[in-house]
Amino acid sequence: MKTVCFGLQWGDEGKGKVTTYLSKDYDYIVRYSGGSNAGHTVEYGDFKLIHHLIPSFDIRKDIKGYISNGVVVDLEVLNKEIEELRKMGFDISQRLWISKLAHVVLPIHKILDEKMELSRGERAVGTTKRGIGPAYADRVHRIGIRLADFENIDELREKLLTITALYKELYSIEWEEYDEVIEQYEDMSSLIVSPLEIKTELENSNVIFEGTQGVLLDIDMGTYPYVTGTFCNTTGVESGLGYVTKLDKRIGIFKAYVTRVGEGPFPTELFGDEGEMLRKAGKEYGATTGRPRRCGWLDLPLLKYAIEISGCDEMIMTKADVLSGMEKVKVGVRYDIDGKKVEMPSELSNIGRSQVEYVEFNGWKNLEDKEFDHFTKFIESETGVKITYISTGARVDQITKM
Ligand code: IMP
Repeated sequence: MKTVCFGLQWGDEGKGKVTTYLSKDYDYIVRYSGGSNAGHTVEYGDFKLIHHLIPSFDIRKDIKGYISNGVVVDLEVLNKEIEELRKMGFDISQRLWISKLAHVVLPIHKILDEKMELSRGERAVGTTKRGIGPAYADRVHRIGIRLADFENIDELREKLLTITALYKELYSIEWEEYDEVIEQYEDMSSLIVSPLEIKTELENSNVIFEGTQGVLLDIDMGTYPYVTGTFCNTTGVESGLGYVTKLDKRIGIFKAYVTRVGEGPFPTELFGDEGEMLRKAGKEYGATTGRPRRCGWLDLPLLKYAIEISGCDEMIMTKADVLSGMEKVKVGVRYDIDGKKVEMPSELSNIGRSQVEYVEFNGWKNLEDKEFDHFTKFIESETGVKITYISTGARVDQITKM
């Protein structure tokens, strides 16, 4: 069985927790995109993990992880995560593999990320400043450093000299602590494999491909330029792996409302006290940057768009419990863009101009309430996609099959 679990909104849908829960029925969890910009918070009950690069497999079980070529790897962050797990009594040295074709996020990438954001001023993307965009850009510039490059240290130093000379000339960024990254590589070198070394094993295993962020942050299909540097959509699975694979199931995760960190259009955004109320109730602060997340009502036109482009064939709803106790709950059902009614946008460049029409639901006290049932049935009938699980709370086991 090959399943992809991915976000249907702008990230932070709770993919980490849900994937961790589902992982018990799989052999491998594979990260196919992103980097340490992702932040997965998983509560196990007696302990909690926040990880950025390690795939979301249930750490208590015998499940393996693979970080594919599509991911940009910050060696310092990854080593820290592995070390933290070791301190907690989880040795993952035989359970995690990393593609040698994955590109490395260097300190200069983080400096450039910050510098670019500053010089963009009002047009800043609101990145996590983890160097993600610059690392992917250097891959395309063909000056990026891959894990495979560390196999020949003399050649690696030559490559590092080239990239740092370019950064100095183009961006006035200086850095030469090469030994630091070489040491960081050595700490994890035993985990590195070539994509083909692990291909057969993956083909013979039950695998979840774990998405990062959400499809609305996909470099092509998202709200460009307010997106991340890579493919968050399910289409990223094959480019991340580097070869073809057949997917059996595409599980899209969405929150019962919507959040977004960073800049960019957000048609159903709530401001002032209403936004604050949702932010507090849902503890909506970024796991990577701590930034307050922008909050708003569920947006069906965007959910339909996300389903359309991803091939989503079932959905998992998270955080519906956050809305419990509210008198009214709204759902955006239609846009009016320049006088035209839009049920599902065909592209996202003009959604910032949309006026949203809402449907209002009576609130629910708890998730057994019939009002909540109305809410979920409405989403299913509008989207044509079944909700298979409802996730509540941060704990891995707080999830109910529908
Ligand atoms: P970058 O990925 O750091 O380049 O940031 C680009 C955009 O993606 C910004 O709006 C970030 O806030 C957003 N972003 C990146 N990673 C995440 C995530 O894990 N959750 C939510 N938003 C994210």
